[in-house]
Amino acid sequence: MTTRTRILTGITTTGTPHLGNYAGAIRPAILASQDANADSFYFLADYHALIKCDDPQRIQRSRMEIAATWLAGGLDVNRVTFYRQSDIPEIPELTWLLTCVAAKGLLNRAHAYKASVDKNVETGEDPDAGITMGLYGYPVLMAADILMFNAHKVPVGRDQIQHVEMARDIGQRFNHLFGNGKEFFTMPEALIEESVATLPGLDGRKMSKSYDNTIPLFTSAKDMKDAISRIVTDSRAPGEAKDPDNSHLFTLFQAFASKAQEEEFRAELLQGLGWGEAKNRLFQLLDGQLGEARERYHQLISRPSDMEDLLLIGAKKARAVAAPFLAELREAVGLRSFVEQAAAPVAAKKKAAKAARFVSFREDDGSFRFRLLAADGEQLLLSRNFADGKAAGAVTKQLQSGQTLDIRSEAYGFNVWLDGECVAESTAIYADAAERDAGIAALRVALTPIED
Ligand code: TRP
Repeated sequence: MTTRTRILTGITTTGTPHLGNYAGAIRPAILASQDANADSFYFLADYHALIKCDDPQRIQRSRMEIAATWLAGGLDVNRVTFYRQSDIPEIPELTWLLTCVAAKGLLNRAHAYKASVDKNVETGEDPDAGITMGLYGYPVLMAADILMFNAHKVPVGRDQIQHVEMARDIGQRFNHLFGNGKEFFTMPEALIEESVATLPGLDGRKMSKSYDNTIPLFTSAKDMKDAISRIVTDSRAPGEAKDPDNSHLFTLFQAFASKAQEEEFRAELLQGLGWGEAKNRLFQLLDGQLGEARERYHQLISRPSDMEDLLLIGAKKARAVAAPFLAELREAVGLRSFVEQAAAPVAAKKKAAKAARFVSFREDDGSFRFRLLAADGEQLLLSRNFADGKAAGAVTKQLQSGQTLDIRSEAYGFNVWLDGECVAESTAIYADAAERDAGIAALRVALTPIED
C-alpha cells in the first residue's frame, strides 16, 4: 500500500465566503482532494472563530454558510474527512498537552499577538489590553489541529506560515520529551499555492471583507450582478479600445474563463466593447459556472439537518483517527490507568516490536558490547564483553535471525545463550517470577522477525 499525502486545512468560521475565497482557497482545495494520492482533512475551525468573534448568531450562521459553500462547491465527503473542529473533543485535550510543552517565548513572537500588543503600545494602552488567552494560545490550538492528524501538507495563506512553523516546533518538543526515540508527530509543511490568483476586488485592491470590496458568491444572482455593476473601470466610452491587462474586471474574468473565452473577451475589449456590456459578460460567465452550485447551496441551507448528519459522520471518521492516537499520547505523558499499570509495559513492548533496536558501544578496556532496547527505550538485554566488534555483530545477527532462543531463567532475571555460551543478560530487576516471565515474553516479541 502506498501512503497517501495527508492534506489538512481549517477555515475560520467568522464570515460568509466570497468570490475571492472561492477562487483562492475553496476551489483549489476541492480540486486537490480529488487527487488519488491525497487524503484530505478539511474542517471548520470554529474554536478559532470564538477567538475573534463573540457574537453567537454570527458564529452559527458562518459555520452553516461555510459548510454549505464547500459542499455545494463539489466537496465529496466520501473522499475527504470534513468535520467541525468543535465536534472533536480530542483537539482541546491535545491542545492542553501541547500547551504544557510550548515555550511562552515562542508564543510571544506570534505575529497576530504581537500586532495587538504593538497597537496597544502605540495608543498608550496597557500592552495586554483586550488580549485574551485565546488569542495568545491561538497557535497552540492550531498546532493541535495539525498534529492530531499527522498532516504532511497544510495549505494556508502566507499569514499562516508562522503558525505551521510553530506547530513543527511544538510537535518536535513533544517528540523529544516523550517519544523515547519514537516520533509521535509528523512534521507538517505549509503549502502555499503560488499558482492560484488572489482575486482583485471591486476597487482593484485584493478582494477582502476588510476592504468591503467583495463579490458575493452564493447569496443570489442579483447580489452578484449588483456587485459586478460596481466594479471600478476607467472612463473609456463604448467604441474606444480598452486595455485588458490593466483592467481588474478582465483579471476576474480570466480566473473563471477557458483560454478560448479569455481570448475572445480580450479581442472584444480591444475592439471597444463598452464597460457595461463587459460587466454583463462577466456576470454571464460567473452565473454559468456557479449557478448550479448556488442552487445546491440554497438547498443545503434550507435543510440544515442533512448538513448536520454529514458533519457528524465526518467527526466520527476524524475521531476514529484522533481517539486512539490521543490515548497513546496520554499514556506517553503519564496519564495512565492505575489498574493496567502492571500489564501495560508488556503490551507496549508488543506494539513496539518493530522498532526494537540494538545499540553497540565500547567499554573503556576496548571490548565491545551491545544493548537491546525496546522502542520505548527500555533496555531488554545487555551483552557480555566481546573482544571485537565483529564478534558482537555476529551475535546480534544470530539473535535477530528468528532461530529459537535459548533463554534461561534465574530468580530475578534471565540469560540468553547461543552455542553453549551465555551471550547476554537481562538488566531489569524483576520483583517475581511472573514479572520476569513478562520480561522474557517482551524479549521474544522484540526479537520476532518482522513480517509484512
Ligand atoms: N488559522 C487559520 C486561518 O485563519 C485557520 C486554521 C485553524 C487552520 N486551524 C488550522 C489552517 C489548521 C490550517 C491548519 O486561516
